[in-house]
Amino acid sequence: MNILVTGGAGYIGSHTCIELLQAGYNVVVIDNLYNSSSQSLKHVEKITGKKITFYELDIRDKKALNKVFEENCFDGVIHFAGLKAVGESVKKPMEYYNVNVYGSFILAELMKKFGCKTLVFSSSATVYGEPNVIPIKEDFPLSPKNPYGRSKLMVETYLRDIFLENESWHIGILRYFNPAGAHESGLIGEDPNGIPNNLLPYISQVAVGKFDKLKIFGDDYKTHDGTGVRDYIHVVDLAKGHLMALEALSKKSQILTLNLGSGRGQSVIDMVKAFEKASSKKIPYEIVNRRLGDIPASYTDTTFAEKILGWKPKYDENKICEDAWRWQQNNPSGYE
Ligand code: NAD
Ligand code: UFG
Repeated sequence: MNILVTGGAGYIGSHTCIELLQAGYNVVVIDNLYNSSSQSLKHVEKITGKKITFYELDIRDKKALNKVFEENCFDGVIHFAGLKAVGESVKKPMEYYNVNVYGSFILAELMKKFGCKTLVFSSSATVYGEPNVIPIKEDFPLSPKNPYGRSKLMVETYLRDIFLENESWHIGILRYFNPAGAHESGLIGEDPNGIPNNLLPYISQVAVGKFDKLKIFGDDYKTHDGTGVRDYIHVVDLAKGHLMALEALSKKSQILTLNLGSGRGQSVIDMVKAFEKASSKKIPYEIVNRRLGDIPASYTDTTFAEKILGWKPKYDENKICEDAWRWQQNNPSGYE
């Protein structure tokens, strides 16, 4: 079985390539390396002992992508390629809609042209906006609060309309919560450009001495310790979820929408403590103002994903922090 992985050199994509290769799939990656390094794919090959076919190209380059489809016969596509920084999306909305939405249009058009109708799409829990209650279920109202989230919702809507027109598609929309951690080999992990926006990479970089302290964005939320609560899901569990989604989709034509998260809410302080335990390092922090646009708490109800895929995350916050720390220690400057 041949699988095209768009954005496969990135954080979640590279971890998913490992699971695909280990399960016996052939993997073709396209990525323009805007937010990644081809080194990640070399490391994936080292971990698995298998080869990846890599095309460096922009997903919006229809001619180049058409050639990839001509040269390969795909049984399915996992579509990770896109831009993902919430704050940046407010400053560069055109770029976000162009890459995330237009890029998905091009991909789906070529899939249709070449008769490949199995697609797994990376959506995000951000499409729920600020939920009225938690845990979050798949049928909750959707109201993304920023251009990034709205670009994801637009693609979801587009995919639903494609399916309505032709029900022979097999489409999986996966709404991830907070992916974190790294492969336990310490060879691949998250490698953010510049100052990390996300909590775990920031804590890791404090632990390795790149920053003096963590800034905790608010301790006056109505949560168990006042700091923001999120659902941290180990990236390897998430990657396995993609494989199981592909398998479920292969059984019948359908459109599936699933939340992928751990089902547990952890505060910023909880994660600091888990990281301190994993690294035996003190993580100094200061409490600063809330970050604009942040919600108090978000975590998923895992019932539906478990029922449909038989998927249950295996790893907890301790394993997330141990693996993130191993990756950070082995690669203080990421893939450079
Ligand atoms: P990432 O940035 O590490 O991976 C995305 C990959 O897409 C990168 O390798 C990047 O170079 C590539 N890319 C970007 N623009 C491209 C283009 N025009 N053409 C070809 N390739 C392009 O991010 P990630 O964390 O691995 O996220 C993967 C997907 O999951 C994204 O769609 C993201 O929106 C979604 N997602 C991520 C998170 C998260 O917190 N990491 C949460 C929810 C959803
Ligand atoms: N936080 C800090 N200090 C930091 C970074 C984060 O206190 O330096 C806090 C935040 O306030 C929040 C929690 O840590 O309470 C998690 O923040 P992240 O930025 O790691 O994650 P978010 O939940 O804000 O957003 C992430 C992705 C989004 C995605 C969303 C839902 O960055 O792209 O999860 O999946 F949409």
